[in-house]
Amino acid sequence: MILGIETSCDETAAALVTPEGEIRSNVVSSQAALHARYGGVVPEVASRRHLELVGPAIREALAAGRATLDDVGTVAVTQGPGLVGALLVGLSAAKALAWARGLPLAPVDHLQGHVASLYLGPDPLEPPFLCLLASGGHTLLLDVQGHDGYRVLGSSLDDAAGEAFDKGARLLGLGYPGGAAIDAAAREGDPEAFAFPVARVGGHDFSFSGVKTALLYAVRELGDGAAARQADLAASYQRAIVRALVRGTTAAVERTGHDTVAVVGGVAANSELRAALPDATAPPLALCTDNAAMIGSAARYVEAIPSPRYLALDAYASAA
Ligand code: KG4
Ligand code: ZN
Repeated sequence: MILGIETSCDETAAALVTPEGEIRSNVVSSQAALHARYGGVVPEVASRRHLELVGPAIREALAAGRATLDDVGTVAVTQGPGLVGALLVGLSAAKALAWARGLPLAPVDHLQGHVASLYLGPDPLEPPFLCLLASGGHTLLLDVQGHDGYRVLGSSLDDAAGEAFDKGARLLGLGYPGGAAIDAAAREGDPEAFAFPVARVGGHDFSFSGVKTALLYAVRELGDGAAARQADLAASYQRAIVRALVRGTTAAVERTGHDTVAVVGGVAANSELRAALPDATAPPLALCTDNAAMIGSAARYVEAIPSPRYLALDAYASAA
């Protein structure tokens, strides 16, 4: 089996995946509560917490999968992009474990991991397809032709969609992490109450920094009345972001002629986005936000590095 490890941001995760793509265990320990008081992820705090949690997460993944290290044939780990200190904790744990057991190590790109969340059983998606990857750190439109990669058609020129959700939630007093909180608040609100335009940029790119400013001005204008309009503001804000994502995805489908469309990443958990793209394939909610099963899945299509050559591997902070 493949033991996947993911520590790129504020989730410490470990999972067991079979070479066929069946999930045997999927342990995610979220640090969200730890970072909530700061209104966002504090990198140094995240690294220290990963250090405490990575061992227990691996042990729990083995126990939940009724397995021992004897059942592990490959160790897979997120190499980047992400917070470099956080990544280094997972990478070091993976190296130590693989080296101690003489196992090969598969370095996995986090974005490829999100795409590979679609390749897990029981109903894996087969390339080719068009993929919208929307997370806290990235918003990308991808042309996926094979299991081991993709071509980037467009991306956000500024904030990622998830970042827009998180910053909006902060403005609305909904706390961190914001996406799920806006999603919940929006259910009680009127999405047409406020017009929050999302800038159209050229090609297949996105821009989400303007919509956040529009929300800021609306909240300022309402002053003390903003709290009473929280649901309407959340619903209208969510509508604007979802519209932009759907518009971009539809345009990319038209250009590429793909019959199959998929949505991955934390924002793929959004109920309005899922409803707005009814024909798109989206992973189950637990596989949209960061997890290690998707890292194990991506590792199936990566050439693992034999022991001990991977000891020199380094983490990388930004997308290549
Ligand atoms: O993929 P992910 O877990 O981490 C990154 O790789 O960035 O994505 C996290 C992002 C956060 O910005 C979070 O607010 C957003 O996904 N998110 C959502 C929802 N659940 C999580 N955004 C909108 N609606 C949701 N239900
Ligand atoms: Zn992610």
